[in-house]
Amino acid sequence: MSHAEADHDTRRSRQWLAGEARGAGVDRDRLLELGAAMAALTAAADEREPVAVAPAPVGVDPGTPIAKPLPPELLRPLDTNAEMRWTALAGQGYVVPNDRFFVRNHTVTPHLDAGTWRLRLFGTGLRGAPTRDAPVEFGLDELRRLPAEESTALLECAGNGRRYFAEQQDDPAPGVAWGLGGVGVARWRGVRLGTVLRLAGLRDDAVDVMPEGLDPDYVTGGVNLGRVRRPLPIAKALDDVLLAYEMNGEPLPADHGFPVRVVVPGWIGISSIKWVGPVEVSATPLFSPWNTRFYRMFGPGHPAEGTMLGAQPVKSAFELAWGARVPAGAELLLRGRSWSGNGPIDRVEVDTGDGWRPADLVAADRGGPWQRWTARWRPPTPGRYTLRSRATDTTGATQPDRAAPNTLAYLFDGIVDHPVTAL
Ligand code: MTE
Repeated sequence: MSHAEADHDTRRSRQWLAGEARGAGVDRDRLLELGAAMAALTAAADEREPVAVAPAPVGVDPGTPIAKPLPPELLRPLDTNAEMRWTALAGQGYVVPNDRFFVRNHTVTPHLDAGTWRLRLFGTGLRGAPTRDAPVEFGLDELRRLPAEESTALLECAGNGRRYFAEQQDDPAPGVAWGLGGVGVARWRGVRLGTVLRLAGLRDDAVDVMPEGLDPDYVTGGVNLGRVRRPLPIAKALDDVLLAYEMNGEPLPADHGFPVRVVVPGWIGISSIKWVGPVEVSATPLFSPWNTRFYRMFGPGHPAEGTMLGAQPVKSAFELAWGARVPAGAELLLRGRSWSGNGPIDRVEVDTGDGWRPADLVAADRGGPWQRWTARWRPPTPGRYTLRSRATDTTGATQPDRAAPNTLAYLFDGIVDHPVTAL
């Protein structure tokens, strides 16, 4: 991965602690306090990872933070979020259809009017340093007239797999209890962020770009942290980042950022800001609570102020119901997918109870953001079985039996024991 996310975050964190990076609207001392409080959290604390406590804006039913239907066979609701059920991918192609793509909302899905929506760029990194109140604006039609690009990219929440810390390793963890369904691949279409930045008058000395969501402010622990936002270094912003207005050939659905979202391939999901509105382009480093307070590794092996998250580690999942019932004695074709934030998957193995053996990789997927695979299995007799899959990426990173515990339970990469009953 070029423009490594962790390197950038580590540098900015140091600058921010030294008072050299602006927190854009959040008081540094207050955030430091919050950071210290977070570091002190014990694993059993009932503090939760970002869950809305902001009052619902007028016209939004607080009971339905997600706009699309959540049929139980496709999606599992989790607070303000919904995870994809892996059975919902059985028989599907490479990408995850929009109706079953996971949703991660800090608060609620806003309903924005594409006619009045504007992308608003401002800051010292643009010629003339336009202000937030007098920004350089683009409407949706203007963006659509710019050269369009398509990118098949994977989005994954940093907490994906969190529940297995507790369920498999007895490392109870606070936060949204994702299974393995906080991930998806879609075909995104839009305009490169770099194209728009240059049109807006990008200066050579710009260093950071911070898109902000138009969803309600995120309030936690009695502190209003403002809009969901996270800075990108200019090198990444000019590389493969998209301002996407289509997902899998359809206008972006409301829950996934209508009318326009940022898609940052290879970086953790929080970087891909939905419902983007204001975009600060700065000649000095920027910082947001989404680097300091959340999305850091605390706990054993980490310093008190925590460690920045690195790339998403390797994971694998079967496209099979949890506790699936299968016929004993019949040959089954098990299917699954594996992925890694470090790069493509090199090999996958499965264990159906008698040791590891290679799975067959779908050749067309080689080198892509995830890898489909199959393995044949004939359950010899009726009874309970545990299916396991383990992938290795092209950097040689492989899934361990146990993921390294951390207080906020990020970056689970352990091998998941998938229970099945043969009848
Ligand atoms: N952008 C805004 N404005 N608000 C959010 O709550 N959630 C982030 C990111 N962008 C979020 C956001 C997180 S944590 C993830 S994992 C992805 O969006 C999820 O994208 P999805 O809901 O389209 O799957």
